[in-house]
Amino acid sequence: MKIDNRKINYLRISITDRCNFNCRYCVPKEPSLQVSHDEVASYEEILQLVDIAVDLGITKVRITGGEPFVRKGILGFLEKLCQIKKLNDISITTNASLLNKEKLQRLWDMGITRLNFSLDTLKADKFSYITGRDKFSRVFDTIHIARDIGFSPIKINVVVLKGINDDEIADLAAISIDQPFQIRFIEYMPMGNSNIDNDQQVLTPYIKQTIESKFGELIPVTKSFKDGPAKKYKIKNSKGEVGFITPVSQHFCDECNRLRLTAQGRLRPCLLDDYEKNILTPLRDGASKEELTAIMHKVIIDKPSSHHLGYANNKIISQMSSIGG
Ligand code: 5AD
Ligand code: SF4
Repeated sequence: MKIDNRKINYLRISITDRCNFNCRYCVPKEPSLQVSHDEVASYEEILQLVDIAVDLGITKVRITGGEPFVRKGILGFLEKLCQIKKLNDISITTNASLLNKEKLQRLWDMGITRLNFSLDTLKADKFSYITGRDKFSRVFDTIHIARDIGFSPIKINVVVLKGINDDEIADLAAISIDQPFQIRFIEYMPMGNSNIDNDQQVLTPYIKQTIESKFGELIPVTKSFKDGPAKKYKIKNSKGEVGFITPVSQHFCDECNRLRLTAQGRLRPCLLDDYEKNILTPLRDGASKEELTAIMHKVIIDKPSSHHLGYANNKIISQMSSIGG
């Protein structure tokens, strides 16, 4: 479906709001109430909703959490998802800590070829400080196993924060010299009641300048149709790329092609706006396919044309861990 020239073809599905990590920039200071199991959309329900979404033009799906691999039965679910013919691109965002060679191989065998990982530091102690878990080696190794199996592109999300990992910007970017990874620097979005102060936010111009002062001018890379909102560059002669995601310093709403489904079955047209519509309750109440299609259609039409993060006083909105990033 098209709305003011934006073709909405990308659905991000959060399959759980739970996570085995406690990243400082993601989880709230005061723990929020966990959603109980029966409030969460079952895999069958999600698949029914995806069937409706593909009829409205969705061709790409990303699975997110929380951490998707904390949810039991995910591999079976993904296998069914991969059988939906009208989907031509399925990818997953994960912290990698619950993956191993066997699981990665199964993902590969079912046709999933793209993965996004989160890794904010190359130092094991800092990793534990940021995530609350002593899992640096496991995560680092798993990313390399994924590379060896053939996953491509492998994207590595980095949220840069002043006083935490801003001293590692160049080291993280340097991974892209020898490895075919896309290191994606994401501007911290102040969301909900996190452990990070707004003045710890580091914006893209500073990050880019830090990389360029070490490695020389970055070379812009033309976007392919599969690319998200990242602006992509290469360090000269590098195998991989660096990317910048700039929700704060530069809006990308006018090219946003996304729709989100939360773990509780609510559709959201925009990550940074609390507008959402519950589609799970009507589904459970026996709504027809036409009725459910109408709900989804309305959410797409209601997609805001822009957001105001960084301008409107950084209003406190939902927690990232409950929407799935
Ligand atoms: N700001 C920016 N990115 C965030 N993520 C989580 N919380 C935030 C935030 N407040 C990103 C992390 C992770 C992905 C799931 O979401 O980079 O990789
Ligand atoms: Fe979990 Fe990802 Fe949030 Fe970290 S950023 S707490 S890994 S959902």
